[in-house]
Parts: sequence; structure tokens; C-alpha cells
Amino acid sequence: MEKGIGIHIEGLSKRYGEGDTAVDALKEVNMSVAPGEVVGLIGPSGSGKTTLLKCLGAVIEPTRGRMTLGGEVIYDNGWKISDLRVLRRDRIGFIFQAPYLIPFLDVTDNVALLPMLAGRPNGEARARALELLQALDVAHRAKAETSELSGGEQQRVSIARALANRPPVILADEPTAPLDSERALAVMRILNQMASQYQTAIIVVTHDEKIIPTFKRIYNIRDGRTFEEAGEGRALE
Ligand SMILES: Nc1ncnc2c1ncn2[C@@H]1O[C@H](COP(=O)(O)OP(=O)(O)O)[C@@H](O)[C@H]1O
Ligand SMILES: [Mg+2]
Repeated sequence: MEKGIGIHIEGLSKRYGEGDTAVDALKEVNMSVAPGEVVGLIGPSGSGKTTLLKCLGAVIEPTRGRMTLGGEVIYDNGWKISDLRVLRRDRIGFIFQAPYLIPFLDVTDNVALLPMLAGRPNGEARARALELLQALDVAHRAKAETSELSGGEQQRVSIARALANRPPVILADEPTAPLDSERALAVMRILNQMASQYQTAIIVVTHDEKIIPTFKRIYNIRDGRTFEEAGEGRALE
């Protein structure tokens, strides 16, 4: 992996609270995800998965350590970025279990909204949205209301939205939990295609047994410590 690109975490720790009641949720975690790579983050309940995702997503502040994103140091025993809101909006894509589309915007504008908020001209933002909708096979729904879409279509739109600002990293929290096996594997196929097409580093938090065999690399988290493992990397065809 080219040093600097993608996402790198070194010695990342997170302590909640202080004194006798302090909880060390992350203990010197190391992680590196290259552009184009999709890695799994798995571990039992309470092991620190959500805490790690929130630190990576600049939603909560780590206690110490270092994180770089797309070649830039964003945290080094303190934030190195002055506007974390802009960092989250422009440089990190989020995919959740539910699509959370905005019901009063059509499909195109759900995807175009983030580039527009990032200052792109409307025409350019919509063109980019349409390109992503095409890549995700939902361009025929571009002008539809979100409520007219099937669940699978809504999720593909939410993936297009996560890619809209071309972030170096996408964080996906249990993206396949409510889906049957075929649909879950379809989502993983899409995430892998998008990772390589747009050179995005994608981290998928999951305990979905259906998709775990698809990862080539897995970070297993136990009691706040990560262990890197080779996955089966089962082909997605
Ligand atoms: N806001 C918080 N305040 C105090 N402790 C927390 C907080 N959030 C999580 N924890 C604790 O940190 C540990 C890791 O939690 P979490 O990251 O939610 O794990 P997971 O997502 O793997 O279930 C757990 O012991 C949990 O109780
Ligand atoms: Mg959690």
C-alpha cells in the first residue's frame, strides 16, 4: 500500500469517563485500509466497534493516537482539522443499516445534496449524482420520489449518496443486517465495485455471517484491541 493514502490509524485509544468508572473502549488500535479495499470490522457486542467507527468518522474525539485520511493527518493526540463538520461532510461517506433518504427530495437531489452543500454548482452536482445512479443501476429512478423505491433501490441510492463527494473513506455500519442472503451479497458486490471504481477505502462493521466470507481482510476487535486476520475473500459473482 502506498503510505499515506487511504486511512491509517496508529495507537488509537479512547477512554470514556474518568477515575474509577473510566472505560477504555479502544486500546492502541492500529488499522490501515488502502484505496479500493473493503475490510470487515467484526467483534462481539461491547468490543468497541461503534467507538472505533465514531472516532474514524470524527463524531467523537479519541483520547490519543494518530489518524491519517487521504494522506492528511487529521488527528495526532488532538484534532488537526479545524472544521470537523466539513471533514465529515466532504471526506467521509456514511452508510447505515437504514437508508435515511430525505423524503421531500427526489432521488437525484438526495445524492446531489452533499456536493451542493460542499459548494459544487447545482448542474455539476446533479451530473455527478446521475453518474453514480447509473453506476448503481438506479438511474431509471432518478426523478422518482424516494417513497416509490423498493428497499433495495433505496439502499443503492444511499450508497450513491455516500460516494457523492468522492470521499477517501466510507464507513458502513451493519449495512446488510436486515437483508436476506442474496440481497446482502448484492450489497457487498456493489461496495466492492464502488471501492475499486472510485478508489475508496471502505470499512464495514458487521456481525452478518452471510457476508463475512466475502472479506479479504478482517479486523477482529476484542475488548478494545484489534487483531488483523485474513478473510476467505470469496468471489462475489
Ligand atoms: N458514551 C459512552 N460512555 C461510557 N462508556 C461507553 C460509551 N459508549 C460505549 N461505551 C463502552 O465502551 C465499550 C465499547 O462500546 P461500543 O463501542 O459501543 O462497542 P460495540 O459497538 O462493539 O458494541 C463498552 O464497554 C461500552 O459500554
Ligand atoms: Mg455498536
